[in-house]
Amino acid sequence: MIERIKKLESISRRLEPDRGERAPVRDAVVAYGEGFLDRLPELKAYEADKEAATEIRESPIVDEGVPVDKLLALFDEAVIVPGVNPASGRFLAYIPGGGIYYSSLGDHLAAVTNRYAGVRFAGPGAVEMENMLLDWMAGLVGYPEGSGGNLASGGSIANLTGIVTARDAHGLKARDYERVVVYLSGQVHHCIHKALGVAGLGECVQRCVPMDERYRMVPAELEHAIARDRADGLIPWLVIASAGTTDVGAIDPLQEIGRIAKAEGLWYHIDAAYGGFFALVDECRPKLAGMELSDSIVLDPHKGLFLPYGTGALLVKDVEALRRAHHYQAAYMQDILAEESLESNSPAELSPELTKHFRGLRLWLPLKLHGVGPFRACLEEKLLLTRYFYSKVQELGFEVGPEPELSVATYRWVPGDGDANEFNQALVDEIHRDGRVFISSTMLEGKFVLRLAVLTFRTHLESVDLLLDVLAEKIALLTSSG
Ligand SMILES: Cc1ncc(COP(=O)(O)O)c(C=O)c1O
Repeated sequence: MIERIKKLESISRRLEPDRGERAPVRDAVVAYGEGFLDRLPELKAYEADKEAATEIRESPIVDEGVPVDKLLALFDEAVIVPGVNPASGRFLAYIPGGGIYYSSLGDHLAAVTNRYAGVRFAGPGAVEMENMLLDWMAGLVGYPEGSGGNLASGGSIANLTGIVTARDAHGLKARDYERVVVYLSGQVHHCIHKALGVAGLGECVQRCVPMDERYRMVPAELEHAIARDRADGLIPWLVIASAGTTDVGAIDPLQEIGRIAKAEGLWYHIDAAYGGFFALVDECRPKLAGMELSDSIVLDPHKGLFLPYGTGALLVKDVEALRRAHHYQAAYMQDILAEESLESNSPAELSPELTKHFRGLRLWLPLKLHGVGPFRACLEEKLLLTRYFYSKVQELGFEVGPEPELSVATYRWVPGDGDANEFNQALVDEIHRDGRVFISSTMLEGKFVLRLAVLTFRTHLESVDLLLDVLAEKIALLTSSG
């Protein structure tokens, strides 16, 4: 047996390359990253030809290793080239990502040191770091002491965790689910509907509260709906407001909704995944007033703080509600749990995860290295760029949607004759084929509209000007060929 163990050891030790073996691989990967950043200004924002992606499958996982250069070449061709380039400043679609560089170093540190950030007993510093970041966010939205939260993988999971917390805080029972009512607007992000289903509440009543002409929930309509539902014997439970809708960037009237939720005894959840971090900008704070009235709120650092994909955040005003919904014990964890206290606020006690990515480091490192100033400036720049675009695109002859509250604007071309929806579909297709800039579209009241969403930290004036040039060029092309 010893002989076999030694033989296996000699092979398994390959998983621990020594300094000399690590260096060329690390240097090649770092050099690739540097080269990518150098090339970024020239890279397309979108490559519609996705054929190259399948090459990954043609290089299956086998027993023997492959040299790093070959792998990086494959990665570049199959992963980096086809599809959307979210690292580009010309990525102006959906809610953009970005990926600030120091986060990558945070991820590197997290992976090399592999600290366990799930439980305070095991990783006290890691848990303190994540909770300190959550406290900072809680201060930003105006939550008092005693709040808590969790760094999740993104907004969808953070919203799901919030909804599960709201479900348990109100002691909902499965036999009542058909009578339970959640109030939301037609602009709420689809991850909310998904979360309700995953939380077992797919059969609850999802009451779509009418919106005003700027796609904001109308508080009086919310009040009426609650009264009607109570009279009908239903159980009003949860109201979900949006602080920055994905489609148009609308901010629901957070204060009025908060007042109604309190008066009616409803759990108040705000999805501020997109808009929440704009609270860093003085000018936006009044628009976001009312966030502090919520019972739970979601903010996405991989949106508003420009992190690479993989970090959302849930904050809950009463951390005990979050704990009650997620706390669990297991015999094999008895040593750990003996040291847990209510103050520990370990992520494993406050979320569905046990073992988790040490996400805090990718947020802590850039925030500490840069300080908050550049983040605040970058967010304000995005607001102004959106306003600039909104005005310039009208000069080009486009019809526009509501004046942007944050960094999303909608617009469309209304052709002299022919179907406007078809024309705008053709326009977006043309822009995608071109690939210099990447935009997306949506449907608003049956109208096909184009969206500008400015949230990549690399988007500056030149990118917006390029989009305006591309729009003018494509309109000329389509109107002359049509
Ligand atoms: C307002 C809003 N909420 C939630 C989400 C979902 O977040 P994620 O994609 O991080 O899961 C998004 C995504 O764009 C969003 O814009």
